[in-house]
Amino acid sequence: MKFFLDTVKLDEIKKAKELGFLDGVTTNPSLISKGYFSSKNEIFNHYISICNILENGDISAEVIGNNYDDIIQEGEELSSLNHKIVVKVPMTKNGIRAIKFFSKKNISTNCTLVFSLGQAILAAKVGAKYVSPFVGRLDDISYNGLNLIKEIKNVYNNYGFQTKILAASIRNPLHILECSKIGIYAVTSPINIILSLFHHPMTEIGLDKFIKDYNKKIN
Ligand code: G3P
Repeated sequence: MKFFLDTVKLDEIKKAKELGFLDGVTTNPSLISKGYFSSKNEIFNHYISICNILENGDISAEVIGNNYDDIIQEGEELSSLNHKIVVKVPMTKNGIRAIKFFSKKNISTNCTLVFSLGQAILAAKVGAKYVSPFVGRLDDISYNGLNLIKEIKNVYNNYGFQTKILAASIRNPLHILECSKIGIYAVTSPINIILSLFHHPMTEIGLDKFIKDYNKKIN
């Protein structure tokens, strides 16, 4: 199971890399808006900085334009920055059409803002590398986000679709654990949720006892 970080913060990306669990990065316009960038150039340079940190894996960078030509132009610009860039395209008619175009040009894409099985099927049919169903935002409106993940997994298996499921809008550790049981390819999560997986009180109590026992006898 792959762990992607949903962030634009370089210190978080470096920390995940140091700890050994960094498989990729996803970004979105809201995360970018918190990064104090004042120009498109600065944002693009930031994507390159993220690529330089990543040993393996890729980083999803989202297009802002809504119409087909803008999506194509921006997607081509983004993908030319670095081979690790995946063009993140919203789930719209123009977006799906653009993903089809990018697939033919071997430009990797991540179809984002996916909230239904039908949308996930469309993303797979046009050859998206990733589909990003938003688990937490579905939970927010009283739909079970994890059920959607299960449905997509089953249907993709039925047809042998190659599109990888990248569960997004992860809000708590249980989202990650349930996704692992479903057997999906990856989650993209804020770092604090992944870090919470390290902790168990019995580990901390056990470690404390081991060290105290050892120190009682040895020196
Ligand atoms: O990158 C898309 C997604 O992960 C956003 O998460 O928490 O804003 O719903 P959230």
